[in-house]
Amino acid sequence: RIAGPSGLVIFGVTGDLSRKKLMPAVYDLANRGLLPPGFSLVGFARREWEDQDFCQVVHDAIKENARTPFREEVWQQLSQGFRFVPGTFDDDDAFRKLKATINELDKARGTGGNFAFYLSVPPKFFPTVVRQLKEHGLSEGQGESWRRAVIEKPFGHDLESAQELNHIIHQVFQPADVFRIDHYLGKETVQNILALRFANTMFEPIWNRSYVDHVQITMAEDIGIGGRAGYYDGIGAARDVIQNHLLQLLALTAMEEPSSFDAKALVTEKLKALKAVRLPEDLGKHTVRGQYKHGWQGGEEVLGYCEEEGISPHSRTDTYAAIKLSVDNRRWAGVPFYLRAGKRLGRRVTEIAVVFQRAPYSPFDTTDTHELGQNALVIRVQPDEGVTIRFGSKVPGTSMEIRDVTMDFAYGESFTTSSPEAYERLLLDVLLGDANLFPRHQEVEESWRILDPIEEYWDTHGKPEEYTAGTWGPRAADEMLARDGRSWRRP
Ligand code: BG6
Repeated sequence: RIAGPSGLVIFGVTGDLSRKKLMPAVYDLANRGLLPPGFSLVGFARREWEDQDFCQVVHDAIKENARTPFREEVWQQLSQGFRFVPGTFDDDDAFRKLKATINELDKARGTGGNFAFYLSVPPKFFPTVVRQLKEHGLSEGQGESWRRAVIEKPFGHDLESAQELNHIIHQVFQPADVFRIDHYLGKETVQNILALRFANTMFEPIWNRSYVDHVQITMAEDIGIGGRAGYYDGIGAARDVIQNHLLQLLALTAMEEPSSFDAKALVTEKLKALKAVRLPEDLGKHTVRGQYKHGWQGGEEVLGYCEEEGISPHSRTDTYAAIKLSVDNRRWAGVPFYLRAGKRLGRRVTEIAVVFQRAPYSPFDTTDTHELGQNALVIRVQPDEGVTIRFGSKVPGTSMEIRDVTMDFAYGESFTTSSPEAYERLLLDVLLGDANLFPRHQEVEESWRILDPIEEYWDTHGKPEEYTAGTWGPRAADEMLARDGRSWRRP
């Protein structure tokens, strides 16, 4: 899978995402030989930069963040196709210059008129950028050549704004040419959910309400909000990662087997799963939000959320959210899905734990048996990528003592090749026109349908409960599971 003649234009190229993820991903793809020799990268931003300044910025970003080693010959070949267009999004001259630059690259580098436009900009600028692309004749390729739009989250603030954005974008780009980024889908371990479930025979027969007690999906981060106050405040944990990453993980875990692995069939099944998601009636009891206060993490004292730079001391933004959902269909009726996400938690870990029912009866003398956990299959998304199965086993010795043990698959041990970074995989897919790993607009809207009532409830009911940084979140989250006779895993 090598991309054909093409180029990438990044709007908002001076942002963090570009420096940390996009520029390194372009270089890593080139270094792995997955880009065409004439691949070109155009940066667009409000800076008085020349092409050389842009080259230097990309160079530094690669040195700092690329995964593969720096190779001068790759850099030389690649950087000859770097151009910078200074301007604001409403500046017609800048878009005329962009058009001229693309034409020049077609001739100089053989990009064939194939360009993807990456909107790494706040959503309020989406309408202006797509309108400008249309007005300057950039949104449609000539003849065989293609033009695609790549859109970063957040994709709206609620259902209504997401629908509005979709409407604006679809006036300019065909739905098949719009690639919405959810970088979790680019992660190797997330793609492996499908392989685990549908390439094997032993999991699927028990992957349902007859055997599964509940599912826990956790995205815990140890970092705080860093320098992202402007983005994060008022958005919060649920909008930031549950609406997209966690609901995508839920969809992949709950969905039926697609008829094929093309984008359409995948979306059909994911969408069916999302449409079956129901909220609990009592949102006060079955959702929790929290906000970190100052504490200790990794031996360092860290600030509370409201003490972070750029955050109002009275902010009510959630930095932790936990939600109980159900998936009302034949496979999952009665099986709760518990989702939680938070910043400044005990450690960084993302996992999906499918927790099985207890054995209906134990033939063993329980006085000898340690308190057995429930069998569980845990998909370890990150950082320690792999799969764990937990089950009870006899402790060696003369008595029939039983204790929990685990069986582990670790990527690092089973495979020698390292996984590409999520953005690498996704950028390559955009250039190849492969939409499998991109949520379609219906999924985005469906996810907002799920989240909107929760956000509305939270808006009118008090404020987030504080939790100490470095712990596992607010007490109410433990109580929420305890009421159901369950507890959160401590990964
Ligand atoms: C982003 C969120 O989508 O994902 C961030 O906006 C979060 O708040 C990040 O930190 C986590 O990504 P990863 O790949 O490090 O789990």
